[in-house]
Amino acid sequence: MKWAYIEDIADFKDQEVELRGWVYNKRSGGKIRFLLIRDGTGMIQGTIYSEDKDHPLFQAFDQLTQESSLIVRGVVKEDKRAPGGFELGITDMEIIQTAQEYPITPKEHGIPFLMEHRHLWLRSQKQRAILQIRAELTKAIRDFFDNRGFRNLDTPILTPSACEGTTTLFETEYFDQKAYLSQSGQLYNEATAMAFGKVYCFGPTFRAEKSKTRKHLIEFWMVEPEVAFANLQDITDLAEDLIVSIVARILETRKTELDILERETSPLERVKKPFHRMKYGEILPDLKKKGSKIDWGDDFGAPEETILSEIYDSPVCITHFPAKIKAFYMQPDEENPDEVLGVDVFASEGYGELIGGGQRIHDLGLLEKRVKEHKLPRDAYEWYLDLRKYGSVPHSGFGLGLERTLSWICKIKHIREAIPFPRLLYKIYP
Ligand code: 4AD
Ligand code: MG
Repeated sequence: MKWAYIEDIADFKDQEVELRGWVYNKRSGGKIRFLLIRDGTGMIQGTIYSEDKDHPLFQAFDQLTQESSLIVRGVVKEDKRAPGGFELGITDMEIIQTAQEYPITPKEHGIPFLMEHRHLWLRSQKQRAILQIRAELTKAIRDFFDNRGFRNLDTPILTPSACEGTTTLFETEYFDQKAYLSQSGQLYNEATAMAFGKVYCFGPTFRAEKSKTRKHLIEFWMVEPEVAFANLQDITDLAEDLIVSIVARILETRKTELDILERETSPLERVKKPFHRMKYGEILPDLKKKGSKIDWGDDFGAPEETILSEIYDSPVCITHFPAKIKAFYMQPDEENPDEVLGVDVFASEGYGELIGGGQRIHDLGLLEKRVKEHKLPRDAYEWYLDLRKYGSVPHSGFGLGLERTLSWICKIKHIREAIPFPRLLYKIYP
């Protein structure tokens, strides 16, 4: 008999199939038993009917507990009333394991309890919907870059140098040297971009952020494109195109999951080009008018991100930040060297920064100066400086945080649900 998956069940109408999965729920009445079975791809109702109250299938049914694993066989029947439109008339059942009392019951559980049981919580409908969208988002991102001729080149996780400042570095031993977990693949992207023109890396990045917020993870995934010869304008266009494209893909392909999450989609439908684009200096007075306490030279915090989304109901690109709040590699604005050609893209609905990036310093002398000013150990950056000695060109790139983007698309309250196993401040279990 053919092993089928529930998501393909429509192809097996009136045929006998075998399903392998877990018990989600069960209920009985008179001569009939109902079994809600999930197999990872979907959910189906199985029915057992008999005149004989001691039927062996009824006895097996009685043993089943929530999350027991089993194999069932039967005939697929179309039934408009059934969830999913099909039912399985069960004729045979094999119990693989009778589950112990399952800790996650339909009653409400607190978040600390659910986080302790994250390995089981993943099976629940909402968590599955979020992670299903995550998988689609990853694919949409890869398709976007692959279709535009970008080369996907992986960057190392163990690195000898910092990319995004030294305060959030995870240090580890590397034989007789020190190494750090990568905060960003950018510096290596700059090397591969000079070899391949346009590249991207997509992988886990690490920040020992001491801030406990609903937007920060210690380990998060970032996709980072880098383009030789591109300037700030070019890379802002690319950032816009990427966000528009991935949001459209999710709206098109993951309607079911967005419905499960009760996501109101109109804010996502408004994600169209062009985004609002403003300089840091231009938006500052508006932020202050709305209650922000920051002055020129201060970085945006959560209050500014919230105000931005109160002013605009779709994503915004902010450029020309004060140099002193940005990383050492940022290209200064020629007319105004206190400002750098960086761009951050902020989500609507208060979800904050999705993208950080900009144009990189391509002049050797200036980059050497910055390495010194930031007190970075020059020998660890020698290879990076080399890129400015041999055919240096203006170039730009950015990083988009996968979990930030997913949190926004799903409109979930906390980023910890946007990754299968979140790493949080002081928390590494499970
Ligand atoms: O703005 P960031 O720090 O930029 C960089 O790392 C650049 N080197 C990227 C580049 O130009 N290639 O981080 C980029 C994005 C942020 O906009 C945010 O979406 C996400 O990464 N991010 C985090 N997401 C979750 N938890 C954290 N602790 C994050 N820190 C940054
Ligand atoms: Mg940033």
